[in-house]
Amino acid sequence: MVHGRPDKHDPATVGEGTWAVHGGNEPDPGTGALRRPLVMANSYLLPPDPEEMDWSNPEGLVYTRTTGANQLALETKLAALEGADAAITFASGVGALHAVFFSRLKTGDHVVVSDVTYEAVWRLFTELLAERYQIESTFVDVSDLDQVRSAMRPNTKLVHVETVANPTTKVADIAALAEIAHAGGALLVVDNTFTPPPLYRPLADGADLVIHSLTKYINGHGDAMGGAVIGASDLVTQVRRDSLTDLGAVISPFNAWLILRGSVTLPLRLARHQESAQRVAEFLAADPRIAFVAYPGLASHAEHDLAVRQFGGRGFGAMLAFALDGDSELQNRFVRELRVITSAVSLGHDESLIVHSGPSGRGGTEHYPEPFRRYGHLRLSVGLEDADDLIADLAAALDAVS
Ligand SMILES: Cc1ncc(COP(=O)(O)O)c(C=O)c1O
Repeated sequence: MVHGRPDKHDPATVGEGTWAVHGGNEPDPGTGALRRPLVMANSYLLPPDPEEMDWSNPEGLVYTRTTGANQLALETKLAALEGADAAITFASGVGALHAVFFSRLKTGDHVVVSDVTYEAVWRLFTELLAERYQIESTFVDVSDLDQVRSAMRPNTKLVHVETVANPTTKVADIAALAEIAHAGGALLVVDNTFTPPPLYRPLADGADLVIHSLTKYINGHGDAMGGAVIGASDLVTQVRRDSLTDLGAVISPFNAWLILRGSVTLPLRLARHQESAQRVAEFLAADPRIAFVAYPGLASHAEHDLAVRQFGGRGFGAMLAFALDGDSELQNRFVRELRVITSAVSLGHDESLIVHSGPSGRGGTEHYPEPFRRYGHLRLSVGLEDADDLIADLAAALDAVS
């Protein structure tokens, strides 16, 4: 939505596409270069008397472990992207997740966690944080708000969910969850990796902190890892102080530079990813050899109505899960037959990626919906190739194994 005279450096005055191109890309004042230079410096000039430094300024450039010029440029853009005051970047998405949990929780605290999340979250709460730091957690089906309400305890400090859960694509009702978390005195932390802006902004619906694996859609090219924590500056500053400066999972300036560059085309890529994902999901759902398809854009998805309302018609993401009607060996043979879609982990890259997970995978799979437990699943990240080629590839592989 454009208000008044457009200014390419002010996201409030221009459309998403204009701002994605120009945000964070101001000409370099030193050289006049239109692209922000890569600054591979570990240290920045310090006044001879360090007392002159404003140490309380989280953006003061001193040492790259806390922040550097390229990190700061990316952080400024990410904050504006999610409609927040502040952001911090990390070496990976898991670094960002861990940073939030480590800096917000202490022994004796309790966390309510979605029973379907990225696997590192499951392990952090069932093993590492539980056994070493006695942080308690309750895993709940976040589509059942009563379950979430009754899991809250006086010592609940965080509610952690994914907007669209990896890998089942369960959609969380962020506004409702924020209300429950806040009524219990807890923060709502939302991993928004599957549904980045302009598709969805959880802070606008009451979330307190948003986490991204920048490795995925925001970079978009499969060539740099990163993570981010985004929110109000008091919360973000605390996370920076407690978990970046003194734990050190800093992103490299080069990766920050690559991700800032990748983010220029985010709205454009997302539109294409989503359009193709809808077509691929509909193609798979119509084939009797397919046992199930989980994609929020299908009317058959359990939270389709919520997704329509929450994402306001801007799409449903481009991640889907499905399985052929058959055993694990059939799914493997199917993947082996693909000639366009690549078998590899990760998601949100330019190329389409597929991963086969058998029925009894990592911990937590007992919470997956029945067809996932029966057939296992193929997680598909629909890329930027021509949708016709993706559909032809899937059709040919289906024919080859049928
Ligand atoms: C939803 C989600 N959050 C976090 C992560 C972790 O990100 P990274 O691989 O950048 O550490 C992933 C990775 O797949 C993910 O899917």
